[in-house]
Amino acid sequence: MNLIFLGPPGAGKGTQAKRLIERFKIPQLSTGDVLRKAVADGTPLGMQAKPLMASGQLVPDEIVNGIVEQALDQPTYQKGFLLDGFPRTVPQAQALDTALQKRGRKIDHVLLLEVPVELLVERLSGRQTCPKCQTSYGKDSPPKKPGICDNDGEKLIVRPDDQPESVRRRMVEYETKTALLTGYYKTRGVVRPVDGVGSVDDVEKRILTALG
Ligand code: AP5
Repeated sequence: MNLIFLGPPGAGKGTQAKRLIERFKIPQLSTGDVLRKAVADGTPLGMQAKPLMASGQLVPDEIVNGIVEQALDQPTYQKGFLLDGFPRTVPQAQALDTALQKRGRKIDHVLLLEVPVELLVERLSGRQTCPKCQTSYGKDSPPKKPGICDNDGEKLIVRPDDQPESVRRRMVEYETKTALLTGYYKTRGVVRPVDGVGSVDDVEKRILTALG
């Protein structure tokens, strides 16, 4: 199964992706996670992405297209994938189509997590993230020990792009560029809108229903 997760910043894509990959035994490919790792490692890609990400802007299409196209050829992604945070622009969606067509593959479902903006801001302002495994914690899903990741014992951080000014910029980027993708995929009948308000368990149940 080949899935795309669409939804605004803070909608819960990462949180739900961690559950879906366990359930369906498919790997997650989060361009945000790949870029954050590159920033942490100080690679040339990371140096280029760092200021853009911190201020809430998208990194250039060519960079993320390259990351995803390379991943599609890795053995891990042959039986399916969950794309989280990609595509985010129409040119990225077109590049993905071309890359998949070349490989005789296609997208089966586009999950669209819908959450009102006031709740997104509230969730992002309360989020702590593990810099190692990228697990997010919030008011409704706190870590067992305050400030420490349940999975690997790392000290949790606040992402630089969760500062209010960057959050505002990310929302604008989403509304002006990423939201257009709903129309892009709608004509193919693969968009599955899911109400993202409610507990993490409730949202997961709705996703499973949407996937049939
Ligand atoms: P990325 O990492 O993709 O960030 P994002 O899309 O802004 O999404 P988030 O990770 O902020 O939110 P999420 O929906 O995963 O929510 P989460 O599950 O954490 O991208 C970051 C940056 O990288 C971009 O701004 C850009 O610069 C760059 N980038 C990445 N991909 C790119 C691309 N393709 N093109 C160009 N640039 C790219 O949940 C949020 C909080 O809510 C958590 O605290 C969580 O615990 C809590 N929560 C989740 N679900 C619930 C619930 N049901 N009830 C209550 N709380 C909940």
